[in-house]
Parts: sequence; structure tokens; C-alpha cells
Amino acid sequence: MCGIVAYIGDKEAFPIVLKGLKRLEYRGYDSAGIALINNEGIANFKQKGKVSFLEEYAEDKDSSGTIGIGHTRWATHGLPNDVNAHPHLSGDGKIALIHNGIIENYDTLREGLKARGHVFHSETDTEVLVHLIEDIKNNEKVSTAEAVRLALNNVIGAYAIVVMSIENPGQLIAARKSSPLVIGIGKSGDFYLASDATPIVEYTNEVVYLDDEEIAIVERNKGLRLYNIQNQEKTPYIQELELQLEALEKGGYEHFMLKEIHEQPRSIRDCFRGRLNVDKGWVGLGGIKDYEQKLANANRIIMVACGTSWHAALVGEYLIEDLTRIPVEVEYASEFRYRNPIISENDVVIAISQSGETADTLAALELAKSKGATILGICNVVGSSISRITDAGSYTHAGPEIGVASTKAFTAQVTVLTLMALAIGHRKGTINESKFRRIISELELIPDKVAEVLRENDHIEHIASIYKDAANALYLGRGNSFPVALEGALKLKEISYIHAEGYPAAEMKHGPIALIDEEMPVYVIATKGTSYEKVVSNIQEVKARKGKIIAVVTKGDTQVKGMADHVIEIPETDEHLVPLLATIPFQLLSYHVAVMRGCNVDQPRNLAKSVTVE
Ligand code: G6P
Repeated sequence: MCGIVAYIGDKEAFPIVLKGLKRLEYRGYDSAGIALINNEGIANFKQKGKVSFLEEYAEDKDSSGTIGIGHTRWATHGLPNDVNAHPHLSGDGKIALIHNGIIENYDTLREGLKARGHVFHSETDTEVLVHLIEDIKNNEKVSTAEAVRLALNNVIGAYAIVVMSIENPGQLIAARKSSPLVIGIGKSGDFYLASDATPIVEYTNEVVYLDDEEIAIVERNKGLRLYNIQNQEKTPYIQELELQLEALEKGGYEHFMLKEIHEQPRSIRDCFRGRLNVDKGWVGLGGIKDYEQKLANANRIIMVACGTSWHAALVGEYLIEDLTRIPVEVEYASEFRYRNPIISENDVVIAISQSGETADTLAALELAKSKGATILGICNVVGSSISRITDAGSYTHAGPEIGVASTKAFTAQVTVLTLMALAIGHRKGTINESKFRRIISELELIPDKVAEVLRENDHIEHIASIYKDAANALYLGRGNSFPVALEGALKLKEISYIHAEGYPAAEMKHGPIALIDEEMPVYVIATKGTSYEKVVSNIQEVKARKGKIIAVVTKGDTQVKGMADHVIEIPETDEHLVPLLATIPFQLLSYHVAVMRGCNVDQPRNLAKSVTVE
């Protein structure tokens, strides 16, 4: 939530920061702004709306300067308008600041500052912070960097900030707590700072990830110094980025979401590469190797997640309970963290998060850790906060996901959970050898089968054209297809703004069936397997109320075909793996409906991809 970018070096800062903001726009697109230091002092450009509006606005203005900070906003405090847009300036206009996070005690701080004569122009918590820095600097007669440190000692909340001051135009000051910040070390004494590595990768692959309560001072041609908030100097740990620039481009697709949907055969394969050997009958996740026994002996596994990742966790619950016989609980991270949960040292808590930055998921993990549980992570973004605080974990290796609606991250998360369930079950002996071998052989075939489903695109687009104007939609599934129904409904509502609900098919009778009439599309996962006959009965119930049935079925199915208005066939696979295939038609369907309705597919209204506020 909110993206921040900054540059200092010998190149023009504006184009670098602007390009960086475009890469981070998935984090929020309510407003954008860039401040630069040049001969005129601080030039501050701010515009409501997307980064492209800011670009147009600045076109005929002097945007020179080799130091600059920029921000793309997801509004928390105050309306999305020009005044509330970052960067924010101190009262004397000499200090500029960008911020991602929330200053929880901003109200108290603001009242104190007002009493000392400070005047505020915006409704933001961020403006309070920059005034606080100014206040401390002037009263304590300290450097800007020291004022930043002292100010942060007075702050309650979450922040990633970058500060620049007209008094020291060769310096940027950055700090973080609970919100991410990465520093790229350029090849010619220049530095690139950002919320994640995507704006940095085209300039350098040497990065330092800030830890909580660390303050970095970067100086043009002088280098980087790192301190903790108590002012003790630390040695920066420089890491090498593995991100590829091409992964951040649309690669010929109209939208990132479509590209990411089509990447799934590759992303799933990348996810199990080196972790699965069908010939040797072996599955392993290197990252959690040392914790496999701990997992196998766990009293309970608790998975915490939000959004689509929570749906992946639900699929994981079916897999793990069935294959390992370990009880699993899946929790919304935001609920878990505030309800005094019972956690013991024999519990393993697994966080699932594409970004690895979701504030609630991070906080839920911290809580579990404080109670002595083993904490593991399943993340996509390498070096993210969750991946760094966990005891161990497995990356999903799906590559950067830029479309706000998650697609390839979901299938990669489910793939990791499948591997995890297989590895533990095999070790515990809760799956017999032939079942184990059958599932891993099938898993290896999944990428090709996903590609086969993707070839149904035109057929799915046609179905989308029929139901694009429906005001509501119902998604039904049973067993491990129930989370697929939830995810299908979420995909539709988040990008096309159609009201959609996912339900366990049988539960439909306890309410949603009242909604069904001839206008209502009902999407059903009716693949061959344990619940097939039951789902067929549920389809009959919908038919009897004249609902429109769009069913995802196993290739060759005739029974459902005879009842449904439309069917989408997916290849046969082991029942445990059906979610990996059944979710694909719903991703495509939502995509096409949203495009036909003229919605902004990659940046749906009010949403952000990385939710770093609770
Ligand atoms: C946001 C995104 C979703 C995502 C959720 C959890 O709501 O829009 O796509 O599923 O956050 O994010 P995480 O990065 O923790 O998976």
C-alpha cells in the first residue's frame, strides 16, 4: 500500500523516480507526487490520480535535479486529492518526506505541534511526521538525520520513509518499521530506494533490505551508512537480486493479468523445479527441510493469510489434513491477531502471502512467534518482510505478479502446499507409496494440463460475453473445489465490480438459493471425484429455479453437459490437484468480463496489491 521511490546520483532524478512509480503503481493509484532539489529549491509536483497524470502535469515544468523522492498513494488518512498527495513538506519548505504506512499517534503529535505554531495543510498523518522532524531539528539544533531518528522514537505505527533536506542536497535519509524498503547500490556512487526491488532492477542488482527500526543515510558518491534507531552503527548486508527486467513488462499482452494467467504453465513448473523427482519417487522443499520433522510431529498447523492467499490456504487445509492427518486451521490473519488465539510450542504457523508484506499476516506471525510456535512462510517476493521474520519457508517462484488480482501466485501457493503435504505425508507414512507416486506423477503433468485449459480461452470469452451484464453471480463447489468457488467469486467482484459469492454447493440451500432466478449465472465446479453426484444434485436444484448453469467439468463428461447451459472442460487429474486446473477458467472468465465492462483490469478501483496497513 503506497509505493515509494527515491534516487540520488549524477543522473536526472525525475525520469528515474517517475518510471519507478509506474512500476509500483500496483501498490496504490489514488495520487502521485515527486519532489526534487534543484537550483530553485524543492520543486514538488503532486497530482490526484494515476502516475500518468503526474507525468502530464510536469511535462512543461522544470523537473531538473539529481536527487528526488516520489510516492504513489493508497489513501488512508484524507481524501485522494492533490493536497493530501505526498511528498509532504515541512513548514519552512526545507524538508520533504514520503511515507508508506500509518502513524497511529499522529493526532496527539499534531495537537502538540499545532500548539507550537505549526500549520498543517493536509489531513495526512505524514505531514505531521515531517513537521515533527522540522520541530526537533530546530529546537534540538541537530542534523536532519538525527532529527529523523529522534522523531521516529516518538512515533507509534508503521512506516517506510525517505527524507531529503535542502540543507543537504547530497543526502537521502531512509527508515522503516513494518513497511518495506530496499536500497539499490548503483555502480557510480548513486542510490535507488524503493518499496520493492522492481524500480531498482534495471539499474543495479546489489541491494540492501532495511530491517525494522533501521535508518539508512545514503550520500552521493560517499556511500551508505546504516544505524538502528538507538543510533548504533550496523554493517549493511548486500544481497544480489535475481529479478529479471523482462518479468516486469507486459510482454505483448494487453494486461499484466492476462500475461500472468498465461504464465501459469511455466510458473507452476518453476515452483516444483528441483522439488519433485518422479523417477526417484521423491518430493522435498529445501527451504523447510530442517523443519519437516517438526511439521510431521506438529499437534496442529495453523495457516494465516488474507485475500487470495487465504483461499490457497483453504486448499492447503484439504491437502494437508488428507495426506498427513495433521489437524489444520485456516485463519484470516486480521482476525487471528486480535482474538487471543490458543497457540502452543507444538503448533506450526504458516503464513501464506504473495507480497510477503501484508500487515495483518505479518502481525499474526509475530504474535505466533511470541507464543513460541514455529513460524514458516510461503511467499512469492524474495527478501520480503515475512520471508525474513519466519524460521524457514518456501518461495513460490512465480515471478513478479503485477496485476492487482492474484492469479499465478495462487496456483504457485497451491503447488507449494501440495508439495508440503506430500513431503510430510510421505515422511509420516500417512500416504502409501502407490498413492504418493500417483499424485507426484500427476503433479508433474499439471503445467501441460493448465496449458490445455488456457486453450479454452475463446470459448470462455464467449461465455463471458453472455453473462457480462449480470448483476450477481454465484460460485459453487464442494471439498477442495469450495475454495476454488470462493476464489472465482473474488476474482469476478474485484475486477469487474459484479457482486459474486462463493459457497459450498450444499450450503446454497441455506440462503443463496433465494437469489436464484433466470438472470442469475451460477458457476459450478462439477469435476469427477468424491462429490460429483452430490454436485449434480445441487445443479438440479439450481436448474429447477431456472438459474443459468456454467459448469467446469472433467473432459468427456456427459451427465452435467446434459444439464448445464455451458460447460468448460478441464483435463482429468488426481482429485487432490483439481484446484490447480479448475481455477483457470474462472480467472479467464473474470478477466474477459472486466475487459468487456471497460474496467481497469490491472488496477481495480479502491484496491492495492500490497496491503501494508491493517
Ligand atoms: C490484496 C491483494 C490480493 C491479495 C491480498 C493478500 O488484497 O489485492 O490479491 O490476495 O492482498 O496479499 P498477499 O500479498 O499477502 O498474498
